[in-house]
Amino acid sequence: MNMTTYQVLTQEVNTAIASMEFPQHPQGLYEPIAYTLSLGGKRIRPVFMLLAAQLFNGHIEDIMDAAVSLEIFHNYTLLHDDLMDNADFRRGKPTVHKRWNNNTAILSGDAMFILSCKKMYNAVNHRCPQAMKVFLKTVMEVIEGQQYDMNFESRTDVSQEEYFEMIRLKTGVLISCALKMGALLGGASLAEAELMYQYGAQIGLAFQVQDDYLDTFGDVNVFGKSIGGDILEGKKTFLLINAFRKATATQKLQMLDWLERTNCEPQDKINFFTNMYTELGIPDDCNLCMRNCYEKANELLSQLHVNEDAKSELQTYSNILSFRNI
Ligand code: IPE
Ligand code: IPE
Ligand code: MG
Ligand code: MG
Ligand code: MG
Repeated sequence: MNMTTYQVLTQEVNTAIASMEFPQHPQGLYEPIAYTLSLGGKRIRPVFMLLAAQLFNGHIEDIMDAAVSLEIFHNYTLLHDDLMDNADFRRGKPTVHKRWNNNTAILSGDAMFILSCKKMYNAVNHRCPQAMKVFLKTVMEVIEGQQYDMNFESRTDVSQEEYFEMIRLKTGVLISCALKMGALLGGASLAEAELMYQYGAQIGLAFQVQDDYLDTFGDVNVFGKSIGGDILEGKKTFLLINAFRKATATQKLQMLDWLERTNCEPQDKINFFTNMYTELGIPDDCNLCMRNCYEKANELLSQLHVNEDAKSELQTYSNILSFRNI
């Protein structure tokens, strides 16, 4: 069987996205969509979908439209997420609400949402209604996750369990969805597709923990987003939750005090939490958590009897994501 590498799949996804055409008018609606999609990004969701399809000997070209739809959906969530998170940079460029305005981020985001649904419906509904159902369920869960993420901003007692459920919803399910849909479209049985879903859930948790880590400890020039954004927004990240768990009573009080400060120098707040995380050894906890997720993920994958080359390509790709600095 011809196995396609993740690098080639990424290129093919980029080519498919670059060849998409949008209406010219109203320009204020479609220009930000083209802008967002042209800025790149890792394209992990479509690539996961294609890698999963490949496990079951699915043809890449038959699944590309579904893969691109998922990437458009993901990009829609980013437009709204950046507005909700007050984020000024993404992929090294100004976010849509910064370059245009808030209303543009809302409306162009809405348009991307419906574009992704339409494209997905046309690509999969007739041949695999089951896959369409997975997509629709996921869409609602991502939105629920985003609501929990915002609810948690004003709380200081978020537990690890609540955190993991929140990131499962806002991030994990979309990666699971990519893998399950890819499996179904590639010809997997329901049981095999479900296994891929569970695999994606573990990779998704690790993915978000690394994103939380990079938001504080990443290199702005590589990461492409402002460092310390989560700290300034009072996000209940893996870092903050574990810092609370490990802190002494005094350190806890200090953190609570800094969390409440609104008119301090933003960089002072970022520095305080960065130092606290370092002092408490939180980067090691991130690593440990990710390693646990990967162990579980690999255990799940080992239960699947599929083309070994395609399987190791999926594993390689998943592993690379855990070391990413972007
Ligand atoms: C950003 O997703 C949102 C998260 C779930 C952390 P990515 O890290 O996949 O962003 P891009 O698409 O590569 O820019
Ligand atoms: C993103 O979580 C989840 C969604 C966009 C659905 P974050 O808010 O951590 O993502 P980034 O860091 O802005 O990419
Ligand atoms: Mg967010
Ligand atoms: Mg964000
Ligand atoms: Mg983040």
